[in-house]
Amino acid sequence: MPFIKNAWYVAAWGDEIENGAPAGRVIAGQPVVLYRRADGAVVALEDRCSHRCAPLSKGRVEGDAVRCWYHGLLFGQDGACLEMPGQDTIPPGFEIRHYPVVEAEGWVWVWLGDPALAGENRVPSCKLDEGGIPYRSGCLDYAAHYELINDNLCDLSHVAYVHETTLARDATDWVQRKADYTNIDDGVEVARWIPGSQPLPLPGLPERVDIRSSYTFYIPGVMSLLIAYYPLGTAEAVNYGSPESTPIFALRNVHGITPVDERSTRYHFGVSLPIYSGPAEALDMAIGMVTHAFGEDKQTIEDQQRTLEMFPDVVLRNTIHDTALMRVRRLISNKLKKEQAETSGV
Ligand code: FES
Ligand SMILES: [Fe+2]
Repeated sequence: MPFIKNAWYVAAWGDEIENGAPAGRVIAGQPVVLYRRADGAVVALEDRCSHRCAPLSKGRVEGDAVRCWYHGLLFGQDGACLEMPGQDTIPPGFEIRHYPVVEAEGWVWVWLGDPALAGENRVPSCKLDEGGIPYRSGCLDYAAHYELINDNLCDLSHVAYVHETTLARDATDWVQRKADYTNIDDGVEVARWIPGSQPLPLPGLPERVDIRSSYTFYIPGVMSLLIAYYPLGTAEAVNYGSPESTPIFALRNVHGITPVDERSTRYHFGVSLPIYSGPAEALDMAIGMVTHAFGEDKQTIEDQQRTLEMFPDVVLRNTIHDTALMRVRRLISNKLKKEQAETSGV
C-alpha cells in the first residue's frame, strides 16, 4: 500500500481529541492512537499494544501515558512500556512506535516517516484561523482513493457542473476562463477570475461581484482556498491579473485529505470569513453551504471510484484544466519513488 511517509498528514481536528479519551485513526495505512497529555499536548503512538495487538485507542489515558484495556500494559508518550501488571521487569521489545505530532491551525498533524526529517516549519500554512478569527469545521469519510479527491480540488472547473446550483450559481466561467498556475515546492498555486457572478447567499452582499478564486495545494493532500469578492469591473481593470485592492468579502476554505487505505479517505474541511462585515451567524450558513457542496463532490468521486475499479487498466486522459492535478500527481509519484528507493537502498 504505497503512501508517502515523510509528510505531515492531517490526523484530526484538534477538538476531536478530547482530554482523557484516546482516539484511533488510520493514516496512510498506519493505525495511530492520539491522546492528550496532562498538559493538553497531543501524543501520537502506534495504535497497537505490543503484547497481543489490542488497539490502544480502546484503552485509557493515565496522565501522560495510555493503558491497554486488555491486560493492562502502560505505554508512555515515547512508546516505552512503563508497566506490566503482575510482572516486575519489562523485557526488551515491548516498546511501540511514537510519531512526531504538531497541533497547528486547528489541526493535529502527524509525521509517519523518519522523525529526523520532521520539522514544525514544514507544516503547511493554511491561514484558517489567521488573526485568531473563528472558524467552523467538518469531516467526511470517502469510499475513494485520496488522489481522486486531490484531483477534484485541483480542477475547479467541476464547480460549473457538480455544483451548478450551489457554489457556481450560474457562473460558467469556472470552466470557460483559464486559470493561472504557479509551481511551488511540494505543490502548486492556482488563481482564476469568475467575473460578474452571483455571490453566495449570505446577508449584505451585492447582487453581482467579480470573484477571485485562489488556492495553494500541498502534497500529499492539503489545500487552502480563498474565495474573494471584488466590485464588478475589478477583473477587467487588472487585466485578469492579481488584484491589489482589498476585497469586499473573503471566505477561506481549507481541506485536509488523509488517505486511510487504497479506497478510503478521511476528508477534513474548515471555513472562516476573514473579510466580512455581516452577521456572525453567516459563518454557520457558510459551513452549511460547503458541507452540502462537498456531499455533491463525494457522490461524484465515489461513483468515479466504482467505475475505475471496473476499468482497472484504463488510462486517464487530461484536458487543459488538469494542469494542477497533473503536477500534484507527478510530485506525489516522484516523492513515493524516492522514498521507496531510499527504503530499498537503491
Ligand atoms: S494486549 Fe495489551 S496488555 Fe495484552
Ligand atoms: Fe467540488
